[in-house]
Amino acid sequence: MSFVSSGCLIIPPPAAKNNSMRLTLSVLLLSLSVALAGDTFVVNCAPLTIQRADPIVTPGKPSQHVHAIVGGNAFRRTMSDANSAEIATATTCDKKLDHSNYWVPHLYHKDAQGRYSLVPWTGTAIYYQNRACDYIADQKYCPRGTYAAAFPKGLRVIAGDPNKRTYNESDVRDRAVQMMCMGNGYSKEYHGFPTQICNQFIRAEVYFPSCWDGKNLDSPNHRDHMAYPSADFDGGVCPPSHPIALISIFFEFFFDTSAITDLGNFYLSNGDNTGYSFHGDFVNGWTNLTALGEAHRLCVGPDNCPINTLGAPPGQNHPGPQDLIYPAVYEEEIGLHGPVDHLPGQIINTGTTSNGPIPTTSSSLPTSTVPDVFVRNVTVATAAGQYFSSTAGDPVLRTGRKASVYEVNVKGGAATLFDVVQKKFVTAEDAGRSALRARSFRADTWETFSIVETDKDVFVLKAKVNGKAVRVHGENLIADGEEGSPLTFKWM
Ligand SMILES: *[C@@H]1O[C@H](CO)[C@@H](O)[C@H](O)[C@H]1NC(C)=O
Ligand SMILES: *[C@@H]1O[C@H](CO)[C@@H](O)[C@H](O)[C@H]1NC(C)=O
Ligand SMILES: *[C@@H]1O[C@H](CO)[C@@H](O)[C@H](O)[C@H]1NC(C)=O
Repeated sequence: MSFVSSGCLIIPPPAAKNNSMRLTLSVLLLSLSVALAGDTFVVNCAPLTIQRADPIVTPGKPSQHVHAIVGGNAFRRTMSDANSAEIATATTCDKKLDHSNYWVPHLYHKDAQGRYSLVPWTGTAIYYQNRACDYIADQKYCPRGTYAAAFPKGLRVIAGDPNKRTYNESDVRDRAVQMMCMGNGYSKEYHGFPTQICNQFIRAEVYFPSCWDGKNLDSPNHRDHMAYPSADFDGGVCPPSHPIALISIFFEFFFDTSAITDLGNFYLSNGDNTGYSFHGDFVNGWTNLTALGEAHRLCVGPDNCPINTLGAPPGQNHPGPQDLIYPAVYEEEIGLHGPVDHLPGQIINTGTTSNGPIPTTSSSLPTSTVPDVFVRNVTVATAAGQYFSSTAGDPVLRTGRKASVYEVNVKGGAATLFDVVQKKFVTAEDAGRSALRARSFRADTWETFSIVETDKDVFVLKAKVNGKAVRVHGENLIADGEEGSPLTFKWM
């Protein structure tokens, strides 16, 4: 089943996820040379958001390419403060103290018509490993019983290189990036995209450098303040230039490739068809660095670490979807509704960002009774005579002369309301995880409406994402159920 036609953004059933994580762990432990029992714990994460954002590389702007992002719900395009991840109120990861964000380029597949679909991303595992140790002159391997330090507050770092299109076996940075091809009864590790069919998953992996210069929380290329240790990408003594050993982190992003039966048509969101440019970004958001710093010492095995449950109420430590505090900004269709003609962003699809959403192909939602292609200006009033107004930001209800003029734009059953003065979209706020509110200037690809006529010029707006209808609730506009409020459209 494809990501898009299922209409659901997220995650395999928990049982399936646990199995793949266990498989992951055993494969990993076999493949690494010096794994002590308590040297690893795993942060398991559900998807948080898919969007063109990268607060490390392009703060405040759309990122060059689309990212798959997990972790704290404070993720946004601008995260310049040292505590900008920490201030999250929830995380999609299963360690309650971890409000960090982790992201990678999303995987796309190009079909026979040359269109690009998001490959379903089902979840993420971040391995936390005690592998590196502080600089010791003339030593390559670490003595036993040393513990790498917690990340300093505000640390941010990138591993891997979006511009890579070749592989150099003698370069530790290249060896640190891998693709595991997982099928029924087989798994094989590649650098670059697998050259065989992977009828279960591609697990895209990047191992981060764990030696810190001891001074800088970031650097101009977001890499130079960190280095790989001496033995290899995944362990050893830190070099004198970067003498402080931090906990090693290793990303695994799972993409469900079970529906893909051809070779050669995978693309990372940055346009890379080789897979060598897979990379990861990390913003530290742990809320208790003391606890993180002693996590490995107190760990008996991956499933028996105090950090696994620290801060979590009993039974509530499972990862799951979360609402973003700052919803994604809409630029263009990125594939959440179905295949797109170009990879989003500036690399291939140059200069063709749209002003409104591109038609969706969702079938389960009520069909709009407005013509398929339709643009017209309107004011919107409730049955009680209050007007929609977004002159002060989010749309609110007012009486009197403050009705906002919205340009209604319908294409293929997906409608937007665009405030022509404020130049902001009215949107259903989030992917249907909780009650929705109509907002402006926070349009995201999936946040459009269908508009259904119930009487002459009386319409009900339904959020495309889940069919929840916009309702008037006191002074508020919310989208929270089947029953919508009748809204009178006065066409201009
Ligand atoms: C491969 O990596 C090694 C180690 O960084 C470097 O010395 C060498 O020049 C690289 N080879 C190429 C062809 O870039
Ligand atoms: C942080 O964790 C340490 C070690 O578990 C604990 O002693 C301390 O109370 C925690 N601090 C806060 C503010 O929760
Ligand atoms: C809606 O109104 C705005 C501002 O007056 C105008 O620029 C725009 O062209 C109008 N749209 C339509 C479809 O009439």
